[in-house]
Amino acid sequence: MEKLNGKKKLRVSVFISGRGTNLKSLINFANKKRSPIKIVLLVTNNKNAKGIYYAKKNRIKFLIINYKNKTKAEKKILVNLKNNNINLICLAGFMKILSKKIVNIYKGKILNIHPSLLPKYKGLNTHKRVIKNKEKYTGCTVHIVNSKLDSGKIILQKKIRILKKDNENSLSKRVLKIENSTYPKAIKRFIAFNY
Ligand code: GRF
Repeated sequence: MEKLNGKKKLRVSVFISGRGTNLKSLINFANKKRSPIKIVLLVTNNKNAKGIYYAKKNRIKFLIINYKNKTKAEKKILVNLKNNNINLICLAGFMKILSKKIVNIYKGKILNIHPSLLPKYKGLNTHKRVIKNKEKYTGCTVHIVNSKLDSGKIILQKKIRILKKDNENSLSKRVLKIENSTYPKAIKRFIAFNY
């Protein structure tokens, strides 16, 4: 951990594959004066990920990883995490599944945000399935990553009601909005319990 402004901050690496709205909200959170985190490294498997823009704008180091060979890709990731003394990894729309090796090395120190009320609707296309099943509520979940997809201990969930007029598009927008505000809160809670 790094001492900044007399307080210890967790050194965070955020992993993304695309748009990066959750990254943006985590950067805003990290930029607050008394924030408990410092975002040190952005990792992406997609050189065209829009989210890279936020890293550049905020002078955060970023690493573009070619995932053609997963073993090599993860080796490179691990070296960079170590070199940057990363204490916490936040997955934010990272579309690759981390191997057991990384999950074990950073056991209990990898968080993910998922657009459903886990354990319901693991995996992809959550909003489409939620609407198809005529659910009354949906939401988002921040959880600890373990070796099973979208299955680790839940840190925080936020629930919203599905409106009659909602379609996949409108619902994904409304859920994304609460995702963006929930991720920093979940990190605060995670830190309060673990440090
Ligand atoms: C979010 O819906 C997140 O829950 C899911 O991927 C999406 C990423 O969005 N895992 P963004 O790139 O943070 O805007």
